[in-house]
Amino acid sequence: MTLDEKLRKPLSEIGVTSAEQCQSLFEELNQRLQEDSAAARSSAKVEGFRIDWLGRKNGRLSLLSDNWLKAASSQLKPVVGKLLNGLRIEAEKRLNELMAETKGKIEVRVEGNLDQWKGEVQTELRSVPDITLPGLSHQFGAKHPLTLVREEIEEIFISMGYTVEEGPEIETAYYNFEALNTPENHPARSEQDTFFIRDGGAGRDELLLRTHTSPVQIHTMERMKPPVRAIVPGKVYRRDNPDATHTPMFHQIEGFAVDVDISFCEFKGTLEYFLKAFFGPEKRVRFRPSYFPFTEPSAEVDISCGICGGTGRVGQGIPCRVCKQSGWVEVMGAGMIHPAVFQYVGYDPEEYSGFAFGLGLDRYTMLKYNMPSLDYFFNNDIRFLEQFK
Ligand code: PHE
Repeated sequence: MTLDEKLRKPLSEIGVTSAEQCQSLFEELNQRLQEDSAAARSSAKVEGFRIDWLGRKNGRLSLLSDNWLKAASSQLKPVVGKLLNGLRIEAEKRLNELMAETKGKIEVRVEGNLDQWKGEVQTELRSVPDITLPGLSHQFGAKHPLTLVREEIEEIFISMGYTVEEGPEIETAYYNFEALNTPENHPARSEQDTFFIRDGGAGRDELLLRTHTSPVQIHTMERMKPPVRAIVPGKVYRRDNPDATHTPMFHQIEGFAVDVDISFCEFKGTLEYFLKAFFGPEKRVRFRPSYFPFTEPSAEVDISCGICGGTGRVGQGIPCRVCKQSGWVEVMGAGMIHPAVFQYVGYDPEEYSGFAFGLGLDRYTMLKYNMPSLDYFFNNDIRFLEQFK
């Protein structure tokens, strides 16, 4: 007779009449309990262990209580009761241990009902980190192309002994126009469509968004005595309608040098050196006469077109769109600083001379990277910006 068959009969029927026999029967049961708990290596098996031993209806301990304890002789009853109690405590202890062990464990089994297995695995996975998931990666930013080009231009001028200066974006009409030899009612004021932000009058000057970086020439010269060699990168504002080559805010880099005996030769030589360093030594540089109120003489500076090599045509004679067939692209306005400007800052024009230039950083960046439109700078498309890492 198996142990389980014995459980279904009263002790008297299986020939157990003494306390010693009871004792060895319970030892056998305890042995079986230990084996079962050692074999319960999955949550399903732990549940099986619970049902087999502690199940309400047909669990071994219930059967023991019903069949052995209740029908035991008054002499054996306390013995069976005590052994049964000991066995119950042991079964509960084992069950608790098994539940703690299997919690949070990933089980892989191939037998049994697949849907049930999936459910179990999912339930258990919730409590453990899934080390098979891809890691979290951080996106690293990159410098904006305008920043890269600004820094490159700064480096070239720093190598020639220039300092980098800054000035305010909100200006008075005095700094933006008047001290640059552009008095009220001067026609040049209307050439730069200006955002005015406060009216003048009653002893105060008009406030506006600077239309160029040239006012920083004045601020810097007010602060410093010659020799001065400086460049000034910064934002400037004009009331232009936005298109592929215009935005109401754009970037300039101003540059100027003031010292005794600064000649037109140094002016030309410095700009040629810079333009070849930035655009490439094969470029040709040309100065065309022009007009600015704050320089005399004034020039527009061109370089030979990098797309058509200065021929005005690409491939099989197709007109070059970048230089509009002229073979040249304009890259800055410049000139020798007007003596009247020196007077505004208290420099003696008999003693000092100098030159100044202004260039469009956005345009330089477009030329450098062959970009068709300014849009790319401002619409924050990560696919565009990532190329500059
Ligand atoms: N400030 C001028 C502009 O914005 C450029 C310039 C600067 C010209 C310095 C001459 C000297 O158009």
